[in-house]
Amino acid sequence: MSNGFLIENASQILQLPPSGACPSPEAELLHILDDGAVITNGHEIVWVGPRSEVPQTLRESTTRLDAKRGVVMPGWVDSHTHLVFAGSRVEEFSLRCSGVTYEEIAKRGGGIVVTSRAVRSASEEELVLTALPRLRRMLDSGITTVEIKSGYGLDTASELKMLRVVRTLSELSPQNLVPTFLGAHTVPVELRHKRSLYVAEIINEMLPEISALGLAEFCDVFCEKTAFDIQETELIFQKASELGLGLRIHAEQLSNIGASRLAAAMGACSADHLEQINEEDILCLKRAGTVATLLPGATLFLGQNTWPPARSLLNAGVPVALATDCNPGSCPTENLALIATLGCVRLGMSPAESVAAITVHAARGLNRQGKVGSLIPGARADIICLDMHRYENFLYYFGVNGTCGVIAGGTVVKWPS
Ligand code: NIG
Ligand code: FE
Repeated sequence: MSNGFLIENASQILQLPPSGACPSPEAELLHILDDGAVITNGHEIVWVGPRSEVPQTLRESTTRLDAKRGVVMPGWVDSHTHLVFAGSRVEEFSLRCSGVTYEEIAKRGGGIVVTSRAVRSASEEELVLTALPRLRRMLDSGITTVEIKSGYGLDTASELKMLRVVRTLSELSPQNLVPTFLGAHTVPVELRHKRSLYVAEIINEMLPEISALGLAEFCDVFCEKTAFDIQETELIFQKASELGLGLRIHAEQLSNIGASRLAAAMGACSADHLEQINEEDILCLKRAGTVATLLPGATLFLGQNTWPPARSLLNAGVPVALATDCNPGSCPTENLALIATLGCVRLGMSPAESVAAITVHAARGLNRQGKVGSLIPGARADIICLDMHRYENFLYYFGVNGTCGVIAGGTVVKWPS
């Protein structure tokens, strides 16, 4: 067995096994071991269980890592980010502090199109160099899987450029990166009065090229009154499905136009935002097995008061994930732990539900259940150690980085000594 580790002396080991149902009691969700061990064989986890039951053969052939009575759990999964971008929108932030809304700023010519101009004129190398420190900080906090969307290119060449940047980042980082094509983020300025041409470009040029080059795993659409309507979304999703891409959607963020229902009907893995979702939509998500990915950081940062209804979703049995939405406009944070605390204090989730939302349920929303977000045999060796005796403490000491150990894909990034 090469490059394997035996991790022991943890105060708690959280296993978070995948489950078809959506249990809420802490014990059923987290599967906590008090005196356990985790064993890896390089890239994968091979054994998890009570320390007294570690098989003799594995005990002798692996390097020991002492968790120093910290909490050991799966590396966190940030399943919704726009972290490849150029420039900043700090002027818009100042305007918003004086009461101008996000929508008003977009109407005045600000918003996504400002970042789009900056991304179009940035070189591929510049985009890699600005995204890498963001990814490194995320890794240092314990995020070992990151979904990253395009969507600031808004023409074929620039969307492909963004996705190539994600590919380069995967080669440079031990994190597991999941590329999503979001050409349908907004209609670019030059086609504002010919939007059908832009939808046609997405369907006839962008999607086939991206699929042929294997540059994206998912296709996302910002389905909203101010972005793409239901018919446009359906056409884009049909083509994406034909090409074998998974589907995810920005749905019901600012208004309810039936986006989550469409996503459920088309078998999307995840419907994201959902501030304006209603009870019937929730039942559609439940029946389709679509994960609800909530982004309370955007609600907070936009100064809105309508929080996504996590409780209604969970009570209906919909798996709930929480993600940063890291982007330069509505939520420039990289702090997933802080988002998990918002899940508790603003969305009414229990600490255990919040933990599941940034691990096992986020993994399911990325179609990676059992591969990331859980400490089980066969999963990637993405393991973190928190400098605390019980897991709730990372939610309680909010916004503080309490992660002292990170192993990503078998690579030890840091470990307490
Ligand atoms: O998820 N909703 C659309 N996209 C982002 C915002 C992107 C931006 O403002 O640059 C979001 O909130
Ligand atoms: Fe987003």
